[in-house]
Amino acid sequence: MRTPGRKEAGALSLEVHRADFQKALLTWYRHQARALPWRESPSLYSTVVSEFMLQQTQVKTVLPYFARWIAELPDFAELARAPAARVLKLWEGLGYYARARNLHRLAQAVQERGSPPRTAQDWREMPGVGPYTAAAIASIAFGEPVACVDGNVVRILARLTADGTEFRDGATAAKAFSPVAGRLVPAHNPGDHNQAMMELGATVCLRRAPHCPSCPVRGHCAAARTGNPEAYPRLAQKEVILQELTRAWCERSGSLLLHRVPSGARRLADLHELPTAAQAGIRPQALETGRLLAKHVRGIARHRITESIRVFAAPGGRPRPGLCWVPLDQIEAITLSGPHRRWVREILSASRAGQAPSA
Ligand code: ADE
Repeated sequence: MRTPGRKEAGALSLEVHRADFQKALLTWYRHQARALPWRESPSLYSTVVSEFMLQQTQVKTVLPYFARWIAELPDFAELARAPAARVLKLWEGLGYYARARNLHRLAQAVQERGSPPRTAQDWREMPGVGPYTAAAIASIAFGEPVACVDGNVVRILARLTADGTEFRDGATAAKAFSPVAGRLVPAHNPGDHNQAMMELGATVCLRRAPHCPSCPVRGHCAAARTGNPEAYPRLAQKEVILQELTRAWCERSGSLLLHRVPSGARRLADLHELPTAAQAGIRPQALETGRLLAKHVRGIARHRITESIRVFAAPGGRPRPGLCWVPLDQIEAITLSGPHRRWVREILSASRAGQAPSA
């Protein structure tokens, strides 16, 4: 008989001691978990809204958005009826705006069906619901024993089993760990087990400097025994693409020139942003002539983008397609992408403080 490798031995030992593992995790969760609004007064609607908001986004960022959302759109029926612009405005600053559109469509689909789906498999048919969200909703709201596997859970499982496989990306790793994650989910209270795994990943089993001494399942962790838990999981390094962009700040008669992203765009559809110099019709040779107002560096997926915002003379005549003049006193009423909202506010408040941008 073949002897198992270290990785298989780690998974086997974990599964042999599954009941102890589940109990230690759940006891810790019941005592230590953060009191989050979707846990305090759970409902199917609050579970669905919170899971959409929590995709790619941290709990502390989500909290004020969740509170505002529930106050304004308290159930599937209200959400289904709300105009798309209101839904998008409530999501402003949270990013990944396709989630807001999908959540809106999901509420309309629930209303049309007359009752919501119950199983993870049926939830997968709903707009914007991938395997993780389907498992979270089905386990938390309907008690189905299915595992949620995201980056946090991959990290926990790779450490518990000291699995040193190098994965191409997070999605490949999630697929690889799905079977063992599934075998660890108890039939009883699967939603609490899944939330306990999420909680452990968010508060103890951190990517850098994990808090191993306070981990409830340390005794099950092969990586803790190696003394170097940070070595797991191993993900292939991604090449970073550097990019530079100039954005135009053009004012005319108390209005600001903005670009409205087309409705069919994959990212940021229907949101407003400061136009790129190219969108505003600034010739490449003239880019450096605009006075520099601000410079920001941000990461979007694999891109690291340096964006300079410069003042340019307002283009005459009617705005080019996709551009619009927005009166400055109405700028808060329209929907801007998160970073652009911040930049516009910063520039306007600097201007009010006396360093007015001028063309
Ligand atoms: N991340 C995804 N779902 C979550 C939940 N229900 N609680 C905390 N963090 C989460």
